[in-house]
Amino acid sequence: MNKRLTFCFLTVLMLMGCTGKEAVSVVNLRCEQRVNPDGIDCTSPVLSWELSSALRDVRQVEYRILVASSLEKLKADEADLWDSKQVESDRSIQVAYAGTALSSRTACYWKVQAVTNKGVTGWSKPARWTMGLLAPSDWEAKWTGLDRSFPDDVLEGKTQLPARYFRKTFSLENRKIEKATLYISGLGFYEAYINAKRVGSQVMSPTPTDYSKVIKYNTFDVTRLLSKGDNAIGVTLGNGRFFSMRIPGVRHFGYPKMILQLEVDYADGGKTVVVSDDTWMATADGPIRSNNEFDGEAYDARKELTGWAAPGFNDAGWLQAEIVPSPGGRLEAQLNRNINVMETIRPVAVSEPVPGVFILDMGQNMVGWLRMKVKGEEGKQVKLRFAETLKEDGTLYLDNLRGALVTDTYTLKGKQTETWEPSFTYHGFRYVEITGFPSKPSVDNFEGQVVYDEVDLTGTFETSDPMINRIYKNAYWGIRGNYRGMPTDCPQRDERMGWLGDRAVGSHGESFIFDIRNLYVKWLNDIEQAQREDGSIPDVAPNYWSVYSDNMTWPGTYVIIANMLYEQYGDKAPIASHYDSMKRWMAYMCERYMVDGIMTKDRYGDWCMPPESPELVHSQDPSRKTDAAVLGTTFYFRILYLLERFALLLDKPDDAVDFARQAQAVREAYNAKYFNPESGQYSNNTVTANLLSLCYGMVPAGYEEAVFNNIIEKTAGEFDNHVSTGLVGVQWLMRGLSDYGRPDLALRIATNRDYPSWGYMIEHDATTIWELWNGNTADPSMNSGNHVMLLGDLIVWFYEYLAGIRNMPGNVGFKEIEMKPYPLDGLDYVTASFHSVHGLVKSAWKKENGVFHWDVTIPCNTSATVYLPCGKGITDEDKEAIEREGAQFVGTEDNYAVFKIPSGVYHLKAAL
Ligand code: BGC
Repeated sequence: MNKRLTFCFLTVLMLMGCTGKEAVSVVNLRCEQRVNPDGIDCTSPVLSWELSSALRDVRQVEYRILVASSLEKLKADEADLWDSKQVESDRSIQVAYAGTALSSRTACYWKVQAVTNKGVTGWSKPARWTMGLLAPSDWEAKWTGLDRSFPDDVLEGKTQLPARYFRKTFSLENRKIEKATLYISGLGFYEAYINAKRVGSQVMSPTPTDYSKVIKYNTFDVTRLLSKGDNAIGVTLGNGRFFSMRIPGVRHFGYPKMILQLEVDYADGGKTVVVSDDTWMATADGPIRSNNEFDGEAYDARKELTGWAAPGFNDAGWLQAEIVPSPGGRLEAQLNRNINVMETIRPVAVSEPVPGVFILDMGQNMVGWLRMKVKGEEGKQVKLRFAETLKEDGTLYLDNLRGALVTDTYTLKGKQTETWEPSFTYHGFRYVEITGFPSKPSVDNFEGQVVYDEVDLTGTFETSDPMINRIYKNAYWGIRGNYRGMPTDCPQRDERMGWLGDRAVGSHGESFIFDIRNLYVKWLNDIEQAQREDGSIPDVAPNYWSVYSDNMTWPGTYVIIANMLYEQYGDKAPIASHYDSMKRWMAYMCERYMVDGIMTKDRYGDWCMPPESPELVHSQDPSRKTDAAVLGTTFYFRILYLLERFALLLDKPDDAVDFARQAQAVREAYNAKYFNPESGQYSNNTVTANLLSLCYGMVPAGYEEAVFNNIIEKTAGEFDNHVSTGLVGVQWLMRGLSDYGRPDLALRIATNRDYPSWGYMIEHDATTIWELWNGNTADPSMNSGNHVMLLGDLIVWFYEYLAGIRNMPGNVGFKEIEMKPYPLDGLDYVTASFHSVHGLVKSAWKKENGVFHWDVTIPCNTSATVYLPCGKGITDEDKEAIEREGAQFVGTEDNYAVFKIPSGVYHLKAAL
């Protein structure tokens, strides 16, 4: 991966960095910047580490952090920036830096030593973070571009611009270069080159934002790309989200522009600074003839500007670049990861349904693009069109892509074999139509570049049920394919927006699979930046589409995700920084739409519930639809509950009392209006109405069972043991069924293969998750093959229930873990791992000859309560064997024997 300097956020993976001699060692140092919506203050990064040991029961008792301004100083224990001294604490995550005030560009080298109950660790290997440009005055560079159109620009409708190219040559002194750092933002997207070498491997950077509020810049250590004497730097700019893909229709910010500052420090002191300004040269007459995310990219290799990013290139025909106005947003270091090519896949087949029209099958609905190898005559044009599915005749099915043109065009320069891939577009596709290829194309001419945010993989999950494994795999492809510096709804049609509702509980599931902390921290900031003066929160953020429909279920994600970040990563900072905005939003909703304790406003209903007939997108049958006010009010109640929790966390007891009081009033009004105590039904008795009321704790005491029975009856009866909910209800379905005693029904729903189910999608060839339960038959106008919203709480259920890995109730960040697997009939084994902020948690169980065998790993400095399934009660022999392993027996509960275990690796077993 690229050699960038990351500023305040730096993950230095020091995997298993133990020297081998110590019993316990400190590993995986991470420096994370706290959430900071106000931007450029990066002065209090937070530091985390993990302990590693082959021993059991390792607990941290004290730690000491040293931070120095150079590696040499750190090695000599000369902590000129911060010496935390011995701190008596078991805390190993998010310890706030509290040393000398940090200034721009400071490199901070740090290490940690821990005292544990099993001895003192050695010092960890050193890690590093570097401060960004903290003050606007650190930027000498000017926003640079050409704020005007060129002959091939298409400025309305399906807008297209040729890429803009900028270059500058400069001279460095004849002295040794100690360090060179490039700070850059190029909007919408940039690619930078120094002396013809690409800077970093990231693609489609920087991360998208509302550029009128915040603009992210990237930083790279480019020392090795420079040399004494003449040098050159080149930057290509694409449209991204800055030059809108649709005018009118999608938010538009203006012509591409950039800001760039290259700082070169010499070993013997002094520096050269190269900045973007009107001394640069520019052209729109390069090989990228058009680009945008929806419609694709056109590249004419005959127009390549050979050597343009190296010294000595003749740019006499180029224009003088201009200093242009800033897009308005403040510049902030980008703390979420860039996008990159994360995997490469080979196509599986080529067909020719129509003479001269070839169809490439990638074998997988993927997101990214094709890398193509082609040889032919100069001027020959190869056209690639991308789609998720095929028509019966074997040609592309494009109807569900709406107006997206999804076309890449490559014009050959001739002679040699040419290799090409686009720079500023991506597609969601399994199939590619190839026309104009100079010869018969074969699978060997193409590679699929799988493109998404550089999020680390944190989870693995497998069961004995192939269908569950396929669903998990489809979810994995869909989730990662929709990370684009924001979580998008879909990657293929002319939409690709950060719809809030799609990610409410889904993000919790995602957090098991990927380290999404900084992505979602960034997204919460996007949401806040999109909040209106009056308090309204939109349904889409960043608000490239302006959708302020005022409902609870979509904007509520703002609060739900802040809670997820706290629970899964133990990070309270997002709650603290967004609390006031959340409160303002709730006050706004209450004032406008609350009538006698009922939240009357909703917009989407239980979006995409399975409709009564196959061609429908939305159900028309009132008995299937959940009342708008039921959705509004249950969500309103839930958000009040979360805000009460947040208020207590932030030490605002008066607020907490107020939220609790409001919640009580809402609950009473809601039950008075919608609950029928005779029947135990809410409203028109949909599963979603009953389920939300139950899972959110709104049901009057004593009626829980009756309400739950209605959920079961409806599911088993009218829906024949199938899902009946849309995006909203499905967020609680698997957990609700399991918590109230029917995990078997949850498993049934998870493994169904007929309509409606995730398995049905797979039976119909899905390799990702569909937008609609009836995605193979419904109207194409809203029918993506790669949405994640219908996953609901399925992934949470896989990890927390089937594998049984979760926070102890009331606990966060996996400091105290609850391991409680569900050994359901029909499953022979489940193997899962999750790299939490405290380290690796594992649960691998199998049933063998009536015995439950369970391998459990609990990370150092944490402990767990394990629920060992033992159908007939635990025998003394099994119990003693487990106690000998170091576990402490707590008691039996239902069909589980409960033990407390300290950190370590265990093998537990009991008869089922
Ligand atoms: C999007 C969804 C979104 C919904 C809400 C759709 O077009 O693809 O994911 O949540 O609209 O209206």
